[in-house]
Amino acid sequence: MPTTTWNRHHILSLADFTTTEYDTVLQTAASFQEVLSRRTKKVPTLQGQVVANLFFESSTRTRSSFELAAKRLSADTLNFAAATSSMTKGETILDTAKTYLAMGTDIMVVRHREAGVPNAIAAEMDRLGVRVSVLNAGDGQHEHPSQGLLDLFTLCTLIDPASPRLELLKGKKIAIVGDILHSRVARSNIWSLIASGAQVHLAAPPTLLPKLFAEYILEEAGARNQEFIISSSPTPHSPLPTPQLFLHWQLEPALQDADFVMTLRLQKERMTAHLLPSLREYHQLFGITRTKLQLCKPSVKVLHPGPVNRGVEISSELMDDPEFSLIQSQVTSGVAVRMALLYLLGSGKT
Ligand code: NCD
Repeated sequence: MPTTTWNRHHILSLADFTTTEYDTVLQTAASFQEVLSRRTKKVPTLQGQVVANLFFESSTRTRSSFELAAKRLSADTLNFAAATSSMTKGETILDTAKTYLAMGTDIMVVRHREAGVPNAIAAEMDRLGVRVSVLNAGDGQHEHPSQGLLDLFTLCTLIDPASPRLELLKGKKIAIVGDILHSRVARSNIWSLIASGAQVHLAAPPTLLPKLFAEYILEEAGARNQEFIISSSPTPHSPLPTPQLFLHWQLEPALQDADFVMTLRLQKERMTAHLLPSLREYHQLFGITRTKLQLCKPSVKVLHPGPVNRGVEISSELMDDPEFSLIQSQVTSGVAVRMALLYLLGSGKT
C-alpha cells in the first residue's frame, strides 16, 4: 500500500476534495486492483472492524460493491435494508444509526433518498465524540462521491493503468449527458473532473438542465474559492481564464470531439412533473447511439453509472459493445475504489 497521509474523517462530498486526496484515492485503488487480480483476493487490513451498510434507498451495484470491498479487507459487515428494518415500526434514522454504533460499527456507509442524511449522521457521530466515519453512498440529488471516484479511476486507469492520477484528464473533453437535474452522480463528477483540469460539457433538455443548476454550481464553487467559468459556448481567445464547465441544451456541441461521454439514467422516481414529451423523443434527441458517437474522437469511450434504461439514454447495442462501453469496467473498478475509501477511513482506527 502507498504510504499516505489522510486526514479526512468522513467522505460526504467531492466539492472540497484536494488534488492530493484524489491522487491518494487513485493510487490506493490501483494497489487494491492489483490485490484483486491475485488468486487470494483478501487482505487483513480492516480485521476486527465493523462496516455497516445503511441503505435507506434501493441499490444493486453500490451496496454489493461496498459489501464486497469490506469483506476483501476482512472487516465484519452489517447490512441494513429500510424495508425490513425497525424503521417500519417508527424508529428514526438517527436512532437506527445509534443502534449500529452500539454494536461497535467503525464505518457507516449511508444511502438515502433525501439529500443531507449522511451529513446529519456524521454530525451526530461527531457530537457524540465517537470515532465513527460516515461515507455517503448517494444522498438524494446531492452527491455520490464513491461513484465520482470510481468513474475517475476508470478514466485514469484507461489512460495510464500503472499510475492513475488526476492530471491525466487535463484538457480532455468530457460530455455528461442526460438527467443532470436529478443526478447526484453528475454533481460528484463535476467536482472531480473540474479539479482534474478537464473540460466538462453538460447536455440535456432545458427541463433537466435548468439555469438554476449553473447557479448552484457557481455558488458551491464560490464558497470553496474554486475558479472556473461556466459558459454556453467555447471562448478560445478570451482574456478570462478558460471556461471548464459548459451547458448545452443540444447534444451535438457537447459530443463534438469529446474524449469521453458519460450518460445518466432518466431518474423517473425523482421527477415530480412531466419534464419530457416522451421517452422516444428523448432517445432521438439525447440518447447515445453509435451514429451519434461519430461526432466524438474516434477513441471515444462511454460510461454509465447504472442502472440503465436500455434504449432510452443509451442504445442497447452500444451498451454491450466492448469497443466503446466502459460500463462493466466501472462496476469492476468500483470494488477497488471502495476498498481504498474504506481503507483510508479505517486504517487510522485500530
Ligand atoms: C446511481 C445512483 O444511485 O445514484 N447509481 C449507482 O449508484 N450506480 C445512478 C442512478 O440511480 O441512476
